[in-house]
Amino acid sequence: MSYVPKPLSSTRSGPLSGQLTVPGDKSISHRALLFGALSLGTTRITGLLESEDVLNTAKVVSALGAPATKTKDVWQVQGRGLGGFQQPDVPLDFGNSGTGARLAMGVVAGQAVSVEMIGDESLSRRPMSRVLNPLKQMGLQVENKDRETLPLKLRGTVDLVPIEYELPVPSAQVKSAVLIAGLQATGTTTVIETEPTRDHTERMLRFFGAEITTAAGGDGKTRISVTGGQQMQGREVAVPADPSSAAFLAAAAVLVPGSDVTIEGVLINDTRIGFYKTLQEMGADLTYANKREEGGEQIADIRVRHSALMGVRVPPERAPSMIDEYPILAVVAAFAEGETVMEGLAELKVKESDRLAATAAGLEVNGVNARVEGDALIVVGSDRVSGGGVVATHLDHRIAMAFLVMGFASEKPVKVDDTSMIATSFPEFIGLLEKLGARFDAVAE
Ligand code: S3P
Repeated sequence: MSYVPKPLSSTRSGPLSGQLTVPGDKSISHRALLFGALSLGTTRITGLLESEDVLNTAKVVSALGAPATKTKDVWQVQGRGLGGFQQPDVPLDFGNSGTGARLAMGVVAGQAVSVEMIGDESLSRRPMSRVLNPLKQMGLQVENKDRETLPLKLRGTVDLVPIEYELPVPSAQVKSAVLIAGLQATGTTTVIETEPTRDHTERMLRFFGAEITTAAGGDGKTRISVTGGQQMQGREVAVPADPSSAAFLAAAAVLVPGSDVTIEGVLINDTRIGFYKTLQEMGADLTYANKREEGGEQIADIRVRHSALMGVRVPPERAPSMIDEYPILAVVAAFAEGETVMEGLAELKVKESDRLAATAAGLEVNGVNARVEGDALIVVGSDRVSGGGVVATHLDHRIAMAFLVMGFASEKPVKVDDTSMIATSFPEFIGLLEKLGARFDAVAE
């Protein structure tokens, strides 16, 4: 079946207002399914994100012998425990999801199974050597030896050896894959992190009953250690709302005059809220209310009102805490007064698309003055953004959503060449924005 893209355009909109929730966090949803599968007994998950990426992970754990099913509003995973997986009789298809594929490599590494991992065109271009290198040191075998991208044939082993591994790139996916493999190795595995990345794996390991230590050294590095062979028990997981999805609604509210939007129960883990900090520094009227804890994570209601914005410098050390939010921040920066300089964006080049190039191109085609300098993106803002461009999305959900948000505040509509991929992370995106008062126009093909 050939792929049929679904273009869409967004149009200058009246004030956006309302109080709503967004679906569950993608990172936590993947992990809840994988950790449930690796535990003994039943794991019950409420608020699981039912996007294509996460549903693919549910199919993967089911194929490995840990069925994930939904009854009423609750997902259940029948865990198989350490070493308990079965040989799948189908290739494991991760669709568009780097998180699903890379974390599952850590899972499969410690099981006596041989699997084929496949993905879509975007995922098949993304680098896997960052995960394969440490996992091969631990004992994972890559049967199609020289490949560093999907499709990959991998053979796990119940005799993994522990390693000490300093992350060469600030990546929570790599950290997580090694820690998950470490949980299945004989001895203690340590990951050394120079820049803090999202810590959901560490939190979830603890939540499922495994012991894990995190020690900050005097050298600014953090050592995260887990000893293998700890049998985890199934748990009840409540997945909080995804701050990376909420970011698009917050941006729309900040850009459209007269808007006042509250997004309820959003995850505000420090390793995830760089975008919201940056919006506040730009002068956005953004407040947190009703802070509380749910399932070992901090959540809050985030209220955002339309605001006049100033350009800022976003330091490179903030990148891991807002890595998925640069496309939407760049769109926001287009409407701010002065320059916004975003530094340290090398990792953006290996996301679902080369997001650095795709974002700069999307800005330019809509009349925004933007340039890439090395690993930095510089956007010169203005109170009048012309719009009127057609944005190439390159199979990237976040490029599509970011530029649709631009169209709500630009002078002419903004068209994106494809919206199908939005379903990989945030299927409710269009419906929720329409509910707030935003306007989309279907594009005749
Ligand atoms: C994720 C980590 C990030 C992020 C991705 C989800 C995770 O990737 O971009 O959307 O759940 O661990 P990297 O850790 O590779 O930067």
